[in-house]
Amino acid sequence: MTRRRAAILISGGGSNMVALVRDMADPAHPATPCLVISNRPDAAGLARAADLGVPTAVVDHRAHADDRPRFEAAILDRLAASGAEILCLAGFMRILTPGFVEHWRGRILNIHPSILPLFPGLDTHARALAAGMAVHGATVHEVTPDLDSGPILGQAVIPVLPGDTPETLAARLLPMEHRLYPAVLRRFAAGDRRKVALFP
Ligand code: GRF
Repeated sequence: MTRRRAAILISGGGSNMVALVRDMADPAHPATPCLVISNRPDAAGLARAADLGVPTAVVDHRAHADDRPRFEAAILDRLAASGAEILCLAGFMRILTPGFVEHWRGRILNIHPSILPLFPGLDTHARALAAGMAVHGATVHEVTPDLDSGPILGQAVIPVLPGDTPETLAARLLPMEHRLYPAVLRRFAAGDRRKVALFP
C-alpha cells in the first residue's frame, strides 16, 4: 500500500499535529507525515514535530507582511518540495486565500472547535456557553474558500457542565479533538468518506 504524504500546518502548540503524527506511526495507516510548517517561528509545535522525526519549516507571515500571495507562494513551494498530497490545518491561525484553497481543494482538511455549522470563526467556547448550549464539540471538515464551511468529515461531542468556563470547555474538548482528527484522516487518506461521530 502506498501511503499518501500528509503535511500539517500549525501556528502554536500543535497538539492536534502530535496526535496526527503519532497515529501515522502505525505502518498500516494510509498516510505518512512528510512536513510540518508553522507561520510562527516560535511555535512550540515545531520542536514537538522534530522530536517525532518529522521535517519542519517556518514560513513567517510577518516576513511577508501585507503580501499574502508571497506568503502563500512560499508555503506552496515547501509543500511541493515535500511531495505532500494531503494538507491538514491543525491550529493554523491564518486565513488562506481562495486561490490557495482552490489549489488544494479536495485535499485540505481543518479542525474547528465547534459543532459546525454552529459558531464558525473565533471564540467558539465562549460563544457556545453564551448560547446556553448543552453540548459542544469539534468538527473536521474539508476546507473551501468560505471560512469553516466545507463538507463535514467528522464531529466529536462533549457535554457542557455547570460552571464551565471557556477554558474548562476547551480543555475537555482537546482530548476529543486528538481522537477525532486522526480517525478522520485515516478514512480520508483511504478514500473513505463515511463521517466519523465521536462521543465521550
Ligand atoms: C484547538 O482548539 C483546535 O481546535 C484549533 O486550535 C486549537 C489549538 O490546536 N484548531 P493545537 O493544540 O495547536 O493543535
